[in-house]
Amino acid sequence: MAIISKSIEDAGDFLKQNFPVAIPTETVYGLAANALNPKAVNAIYEVKNRPKSNPLIVHIKSKNELTKYAVNIPKIAYELADVFWPGSLTLLLEKSDVIPDFVTSGSKLVALRVPNHPLTLELLNNLDFPLAAPSANPFGYISPTKPQHVLQQIGDKIPFILDGGGCSNGIESTIIGFDNQKVIIYRLGYITESVLKAVLKTDVNISCVNYEKIVTPGMLPYHYSPNTALYLINSVSEIIDKENIGLITFQNISSEIKNHKILSLKGSYAEAAMHLYDYLIELDQLGLDKIYCEKFNDTGLGKTLNERLIKASNKHEH
Ligand code: TXA
Ligand code: MG
Repeated sequence: MAIISKSIEDAGDFLKQNFPVAIPTETVYGLAANALNPKAVNAIYEVKNRPKSNPLIVHIKSKNELTKYAVNIPKIAYELADVFWPGSLTLLLEKSDVIPDFVTSGSKLVALRVPNHPLTLELLNNLDFPLAAPSANPFGYISPTKPQHVLQQIGDKIPFILDGGGCSNGIESTIIGFDNQKVIIYRLGYITESVLKAVLKTDVNISCVNYEKIVTPGMLPYHYSPNTALYLINSVSEIIDKENIGLITFQNISSEIKNHKILSLKGSYAEAAMHLYDYLIELDQLGLDKIYCEKFNDTGLGKTLNERLIKASNKHEH
């Protein structure tokens, strides 16, 4: 079973020996390994049971390392890195020769991000290699946002979980790429389109594509999924059965349902994002017949959360 510890030194020792280590980030926990070592990266795929065609985000210590790992970097990429790093924005850039093909699944693009968590930044600063890290869940399951989630999900397969507490953002990074002067959002995430727009010059065109389908065409149509059947609802009045079910609502709504989780009493999407995966994981452990979750308004972070919930509910045909 994995050790849960705050020791950056021990985490570094395991990583140097090519063992995968779970690391905290501000978005979700990652399952990290030396991005430059095939044996280390291979262990990530094995632990997660993830198809090798699905490439990994490479986590770097600072924006100063951009030129080490990417080439032909557009000016906008530097501007965005200046504003958002360390933070929840992942940039898809042309990879340099330092980045091996096995991290990008053969693509000439690499996904780079500087995570915003003090322990992981210190860990990266102690290492002379960057960290490849997908979310630390078994392939297809909900991303972990607490060390205990990682322990429950893959604790029997890894030696060490670096304990950085609960993730403050709770939802994965936004992944963007560049096409001349255009910015393309490949995965919606914590940084919303309007936040990106606010920092980009008005003549920069932003578009959104459904990326997780394009990059990995053979991938299952579901992701981020609990084992319990998940149903999305617009209103609690849609719920007919009241026994052995779970309910997640955005704000405080009265219901007779015992296992009712409220994402944000004060009505904040950021707070809802921080709790969503945690509550889904918690309800998934209760042996319920169904989990109902209220949809968000399709704006800002609500759009990201809806996108995750739709994928999470696709697993069960209904
Ligand atoms: O917030 C996050 O992004 C978290 C934390 C740990 O950093 N990581 C994360 O990784 O969500 P993962 O592997 O669960 O999702 C990353 C997505 C995958 O859909 C993968 O296919 C895509 O990024 N990706 C990674 N490298 C890529 C590349 N070179 N080209 C295209 N897509 C890439
Ligand atoms: Mg993931």
